[in-house]
Amino acid sequence: MPSLIKLHQVTKSYRVGETILTALNGIHFQLQRGEMTAIMGPSGSGKSTLMNIIGFLDRCTTGDYFFLGQNVSQLSEQKLADIRNQKIGFVFQSFFLLPRATALQNVLLPLFYRGIARIEATTLAMNMLERVHIAHVAHHYPNQLSGGQQQRVAIARALVGNPDIILADEPTGALDSQTGNDIMTLLTELNNKEKRSIVIITHDKNISHRCQRVVMINDGRLLNG
Ligand SMILES: Nc1ncnc2c1ncn2[C@@H]1O[C@H](COP(=O)(O)OP(=O)(O)OP(=O)(O)O)[C@@H](O)[C@H]1O
Ligand SMILES: [Mg+2]
Repeated sequence: MPSLIKLHQVTKSYRVGETILTALNGIHFQLQRGEMTAIMGPSGSGKSTLMNIIGFLDRCTTGDYFFLGQNVSQLSEQKLADIRNQKIGFVFQSFFLLPRATALQNVLLPLFYRGIARIEATTLAMNMLERVHIAHVAHHYPNQLSGGQQQRVAIARALVGNPDIILADEPTGALDSQTGNDIMTLLTELNNKEKRSIVIITHDKNISHRCQRVVMINDGRLLNG
């Protein structure tokens, strides 16, 4: 079985005016199926840049990215978007829910993109809301939900399409410590019981301690990838 994810000698540079800023510098990184890994490092060290490349939101400047053994570095935008929709679930610090859609409608969205019929999609989405313990607020809008509930909606949305991997960029960053702890318990459970592969970016040692593996990044370089 190939690694779920393998980055080989990946760099990412941005041109800012006259200068070139190197955000990632020779990254080697592998993730096996069922692994839960934390990425830690100071602000500006390249964590989100790395996450965006892993999640096909951005492309590396040089190097190779293998997803389930397939080199995806040269794929078209459309192919990448298809893989992203099918295989990857994102969770962000600021939730990114659609404000004019209910919790249920937010979770339905990725299923509609895949062309799944409404009745089947609604069943899947409601099951997922139950799974994260917020079925009772399925018809609430985001501004009628607490931060923790909003993050649960985001996690349900990330999971509903049964992705191969969940990428979470500071998923507890906007939550108080108790709520953040509950969200971590949920993610840990998804990893333990359902063998979901998860990558979590965090600043918080309490969170990284709950992951099997912690990878440190500094100045665009992984210290122990
Ligand atoms: N679109 C962009 N254009 C130019 N520079 C960028 C861009 N995105 C990120 N950078 C730079 O790349 C470096 C890494 O940024 P990144 O967002 O990956 O850091 P981070 O580790 O996620 O930080 P934080 O903990 O603050 O979220 C920073 O120096 C940042 O300024
Ligand atoms: Mg970041």
